[in-house]
Amino acid sequence: MNLMSQFKDRMLSLGLARVTEAAALASANQIGRGNEKIADQAAVDAMRGQLNLLDISGEVVIGEGERDDAPMLYIGECVGTGKGPEVDIALDPLEGTTLTAKDLPNALTVIAMGPKGSILKSPDVYMEKLAIGPAYPKDIVSLDQNPSEIIRSLAKYKKCNPCDITSCVLDRPRHKEIITELRSLGVAVRLITDGDVAAIMHCSEPDLTGIDVYMGIGGAPEGVLAAAALKCLGGQIYGRLVFRNELEKAKARRMNITNLSRIYSLDDLIQADIIFSATGVTDGSLLRGIKKIPGYLETDTILLRSKTGSRRRMVYTHPTQNPS
Ligand code: FBP
Repeated sequence: MNLMSQFKDRMLSLGLARVTEAAALASANQIGRGNEKIADQAAVDAMRGQLNLLDISGEVVIGEGERDDAPMLYIGECVGTGKGPEVDIALDPLEGTTLTAKDLPNALTVIAMGPKGSILKSPDVYMEKLAIGPAYPKDIVSLDQNPSEIIRSLAKYKKCNPCDITSCVLDRPRHKEIITELRSLGVAVRLITDGDVAAIMHCSEPDLTGIDVYMGIGGAPEGVLAAAALKCLGGQIYGRLVFRNELEKAKARRMNITNLSRIYSLDDLIQADIIFSATGVTDGSLLRGIKKIPGYLETDTILLRSKTGSRRRMVYTHPTQNPS
């Protein structure tokens, strides 16, 4: 039996939803409390607890950082009971720690799981990203194009003007030139303060979210997680690692990355069928945030399987008095 057939994606997917639900529930009390670290720690602890209940021999390949910097869910950490299939796991227990601390939209808890060797093991560095939705032909855009070329390619295909395109960009000084170039073309720019996993997922449903394209530099782990989401939802993503110093390059080489300027496509980032779960922490266009009802907490989760293209929306009503 090959690793893909041992990977019981159908059976494991519901367990995966529990993992993101637990992380979201644990961070509920931290929404709007101004403390990113406490919020993140609560989510990490809860996610780890649930993951270790799953019958998998899991390895975290995208996690909270490297072993020395991250006490839990570090890259290389083994999770699960050890009794099931060998799987790769990419996770972010709280994607948008600042969004949570400030009660801003689109904070999520996120996880993806695939057979061993299916998810790119990436160092915790930055990544240049370009993502679009499922409506376009393959390779219509490239990371070697400048923003104007990208927008013109999309507008030509859509038979519209650049001013009919909306691009999402992280609001960072490093993106000043991209934003200026996009605006000079007439493109609408939706600036976000954080949370590019949600932003990239938004590209898969432009009619609902209004976002056609995402571009700019964010975290590489978030890039791999976003690729996992698009593998299920449809769409394209390209990523190129960005290194700030020799130390970061050395980290990549330790993970067997030899071509440091390689452009990764979705299929390079995610190399087999995977399952993906995200639960909303704060309200967003794709997922509702945690709702507090007297005696209960309610979560909204999206559970995806790339093999079938199935999407499940799950509302979980959790009694606050009882153990989970
Ligand atoms: P955290 O949840 O770890 O704070 O990450 C949020 C985030 O906005 C990501 O979505 C994004 O990829 C990254 O930070 C951008 O990094 P930076 O804040 O250093 O520009």
